[in-house]
Amino acid sequence: MPNKQEPLLKAVGLTKEFGFGRQKTLAVAGVDIELKEGEVITIVGESGSGKTTFAKMILGLIAPTGGEIYFQGQLRDISTYKKKLEYWKNIQAIFQDPYSAYNIFHKIDSVLMDCIRMRGGGNLPHKEKVKMMTEACSFVNLKFEELTNKYPFELSGGQMQRLMIARIFLLDPKILIADEITSMIDACSRATILDMLMELRDKIGMTVIFITHDVGLAYYVSDKVYIMEKGLFVESGTPDEVILHPKEPYTKRLISDVPKIYEEWDLSTV
Ligand SMILES: Nc1ncnc2c1ncn2[C@@H]1O[C@H](COP(=O)(O)OP(=O)(O)OP(=O)(O)O)[C@@H](O)[C@H]1O
Ligand SMILES: [Mg+2]
Repeated sequence: MPNKQEPLLKAVGLTKEFGFGRQKTLAVAGVDIELKEGEVITIVGESGSGKTTFAKMILGLIAPTGGEIYFQGQLRDISTYKKKLEYWKNIQAIFQDPYSAYNIFHKIDSVLMDCIRMRGGGNLPHKEKVKMMTEACSFVNLKFEELTNKYPFELSGGQMQRLMIARIFLLDPKILIADEITSMIDACSRATILDMLMELRDKIGMTVIFITHDVGLAYYVSDKVYIMEKGLFVESGTPDEVILHPKEPYTKRLISDVPKIYEEWDLSTV
């Protein structure tokens, strides 16, 4: 049993260096982080600061060149494909471009069916699976009956984003990483998507890592904000500490790029 005192996920000195010799890029320069169960954090930083690289190492999509990752108190072991699949039951991601997340040749019901299979529900009666998929779709205000025969590219951008959340609903991960998911959509859909994600967070108690340029989003959703500069977390704390009372010049500059965080994020009118 996982020890409740243990952080759900911990990284120590996590490092990624790309390339060799003169071409070397230190994308992530030795970062430490601890995530508790149910915690929502946001990583904010300018383009190229290492956010996605950090996320991909946590996800097990690229191998670190230094440091360790602990999951539920144990050194993470994804040395075989089978262990990776087991790890991915716990940690899932949604990325900026929703279209890239799907196999375009698979109809939507098979996309959702895959999620049920990944969670070990492959042998459930068909009726039960349909019930689960219908529930997942209605959670994000999509009608499963209207989607069954469609391909992902037949959906609008907003519907695609919601389908991604329906997938997460079915996958039921412990940790979700959302990398720039709201940068392509308008303010209204952005608020809807975030609200749905936060509702899902409350429902299944998942830990969420948001990655964004958007200081307003960080302020609105997070328990803790991490500011990333050149592969390092240069400042972290509660949104009030970091966004309202930043200490680092870099953080101050990021924030001054976003003058109207409150007006923009007033959701009472949505
Ligand atoms: N596969 C790769 N090979 C070589 N260098 C890479 C690779 N992936 C990323 N980098 C470099 O690592 C650094 C960090 O990139 P990363 O994608 O993590 O930044 P980011 O913070 O996610 O930026 P953005 O906000 O633009 O998405 C950059 O200098 C980038 O060029
Ligand atoms: Mg990125």
